[in-house]
Amino acid sequence: MAVELDCDSLWYGADVVTMRDGRYSLIEDGAIAVKNGAIVWVGRRQDAAGARAARRIDFGGGIVTPGLIDCHTHLVFGGDRSEEFEQRLNGLSYAQIAAQGGGILSTVRATRAASAGELAESARRRIVRLLAEGVTTLEIKSGYGLDEQSELRMLQVIRALAEQLPVEIHATCLAAHAVPPEYRDDPDGWIEVICRRLLPRIKAGGLADSVDAFCEHLAFSADQVGRVFACARQHGLPVRLHAAQLSFSDGCRLAARFRALSADHLEYASEDDVRELAAQGTVAVLLPGAFYLLRETQRPPIDAFRRHGVPMALASDANPGTSPALSLRLMLNMGCTLFGMTPEEALAGVTLHAARALGLAQTHGSLEPGKVANFVHWPLSRPAGLAYWLGGQLPCQVVYHGEMRQDPLFGAGEGAG
Ligand code: NIG
Ligand code: FE
Repeated sequence: MAVELDCDSLWYGADVVTMRDGRYSLIEDGAIAVKNGAIVWVGRRQDAAGARAARRIDFGGGIVTPGLIDCHTHLVFGGDRSEEFEQRLNGLSYAQIAAQGGGILSTVRATRAASAGELAESARRRIVRLLAEGVTTLEIKSGYGLDEQSELRMLQVIRALAEQLPVEIHATCLAAHAVPPEYRDDPDGWIEVICRRLLPRIKAGGLADSVDAFCEHLAFSADQVGRVFACARQHGLPVRLHAAQLSFSDGCRLAARFRALSADHLEYASEDDVRELAAQGTVAVLLPGAFYLLRETQRPPIDAFRRHGVPMALASDANPGTSPALSLRLMLNMGCTLFGMTPEEALAGVTLHAARALGLAQTHGSLEPGKVANFVHWPLSRPAGLAYWLGGQLPCQVVYHGEMRQDPLFGAGEGAG
């Protein structure tokens, strides 16, 4: 049915994978109309024949998906941990390395020693790799500062990166990531600092969009995290949680009690946990990169998530310790091969469900009228190709806020020749 359309740009000549309701919902030979950076219409190209459009762009084949969303990363950090990778392969466990003062705390030392400029520059180099394969929205956590000033500095760096790069960045305060060395014998003292000093300053400065914590025997108990979450709630900040990654815990129940936007990792989530997450609409964020690098064998309960209708997101968890991963498409592949997700579930996991994990489902994650015009054109004949290729060698064209985005890897100043 021909439609009356008045738009800034009309994009056509590809199959449109809308991801409406978390399904491919593919429109063959589709078209997308954009006005003021938002999608105003999506449908069959032939129905847009009479559209008034200032610009018409022909993709000339292939498919278009929503912009990819990486909803769980720790991309700002100093140093790297390749040494621990080697130690693990020589027989030490993640927990043993952490107990010896390595692990997260070794990145804390390197992050505290780095200047804000150095942190921003190293993060920028990582981020552009994600952008080159179609990421348009990104979450980044603090959590490697673990003192008041260093946590604030990390969040300021994250905000500054969002100003400099053509990507939307959701900033998360993860001050309850590990017990800081100064509080080794008094973890409750650090929880006190987070609640009484840090979160009020973060709120006042508008430095974070959500609050996260690591609920695990080698980090914080459900009781300690509960205090942080209660305080976050007082400040009107939504919460998310690293839960049930390495062992069974009360993490999922806690996340559900605080109506967390997401519960992340979840390898050890029980059927009851899944039921509680479902009841609160909490998204399960699955992180196959960490599962793979730590050579874990306990998989997240995918079938239970399906049965109870828990939306599953997928993310890179990009971090120096457990997931030095700079390819979200590789995570699509791993979500399928390691966790048994279908390619359609995996794609929903980096689009609609990832948007929901960030509280952005009204405006992001699918190609529907009213949503932000972030989309990616891929030289593929079917969407399963996104999960099929092992990693980031697919060229793509990214439309960001309704305009073709220059690939920042090869953009001005990068010396691409
Ligand atoms: O998501 N689980 C805790 N946090 C990170 C790991 C951080 C690190 O080892 O530096 C994760 O896997
Ligand atoms: Fe993480």
